[in-house]
Amino acid sequence: MGASHTLDRSKTSTQAWEPPALEALRVGFIGAGRLARALSLALQAVGVPVVGVASRSEASARALADALPACRVSDSAAVSQGCDLVFLTSPDARIADIARAVPWRAGQAVVHCSGATPVAVLRPAAEAGALIGGFHPMQAFGADAGAALASLPGCTVAIEAPPALEALLHGLARRLGCVGLSLPPGARVRYHASGGYASQHVHALVGEAVRLWQSWGATERQALDALLPLLRGTLESLARSGVAAGMPGPVSRGDAGTVRLHRQALEAVDPEMRDLYDRLCRRGVALARQAGRLDADGAAGVERALEAPPDAL
Ligand SMILES: NC(=O)c1ccc[n+]([C@@H]2O[C@H](COP(=O)([O-])OP(=O)(O)OC[C@H]3O[C@@H](n4cnc5c(N)ncnc54)[C@H](OP(=O)(O)O)[C@@H]3O)[C@@H](O)[C@H]2O)c1
Repeated sequence: MGASHTLDRSKTSTQAWEPPALEALRVGFIGAGRLARALSLALQAVGVPVVGVASRSEASARALADALPACRVSDSAAVSQGCDLVFLTSPDARIADIARAVPWRAGQAVVHCSGATPVAVLRPAAEAGALIGGFHPMQAFGADAGAALASLPGCTVAIEAPPALEALLHGLARRLGCVGLSLPPGARVRYHASGGYASQHVHALVGEAVRLWQSWGATERQALDALLPLLRGTLESLARSGVAAGMPGPVSRGDAGTVRLHRQALEAVDPEMRDLYDRLCRRGVALARQAGRLDADGAAGVERALEAPPDAL
């Protein structure tokens, strides 16, 4: 394990927050999972020292510290005492408990990385004089640390903090090659839900497509081999043309006959799948109208096709 630097407990202070330069910022992590691995490796790669890690299990903390020459494994209290900036990277449900249990201090900042959890759950740290904030990268980090690390640059990071800490966190985001985003008050949970539509719900939609392949005996692998090139093309079209203008498919062409055939086939497989299809098509009609690709008559034709009751299909 790399343990060349020890946590400096003598630097507990009640002084006002005067963050050191990023190269001298002592960063710690409580929670050594997927996000902590990606973020700590990325910080090290851009010259920001990660000096301490604690986790529920020593094995996880050790695995993270082993990849970081300046980092040592310790308990949460020692990470707090020895670090200028502590990332709470436990599961969301544990953040408030950790915030209550750890002895925080003035002259440090405590930040969680959850998209939906209010920053206010860190209030115990604020009451002890620390600055508190949120630092949420809009990215999905899996178990493969290399892939997670590679997926960080270019991400948007939602930052919520008082001005002194906000400036530091924006500087960190820039140093990581990310785009810092300060959200308006009250937008945090909606921002996080938007990520679900661009990630989790894409899996759910592809899951529906795969179920259709499985309905004639094909495997998930066969389905993915056929669908992934389409999905990649869709992402490229989104990037190139935007949401409305680039939308393909029968709805955008006003092809009500094909919509009727789809509904019939889907109803036979699973009425809930047909119901989801109907809802998505209605969103598609609005997008096609917005893009000027569907006139009022075309839209009315598709909507009539969507209104046919299931027992008439
Ligand atoms: N993964 C992502 O894609 C992603 C993206 C953006 C934001 N986030 C946010 O990042 C945070 C961490 O998520 P994650 O995906 O990295 O989770 P994770 O992979 O499940 O890792 C969580 C880590 O926290 C440790 N832990 C659990 N309870 C603890 C406690 N009471 N005290 C200290 N450590 C504890 C775990 O324990 P062990 O020691 O047993 O391993 C594990 O190492 C969450 O707030 C999440 O919303 C995640």
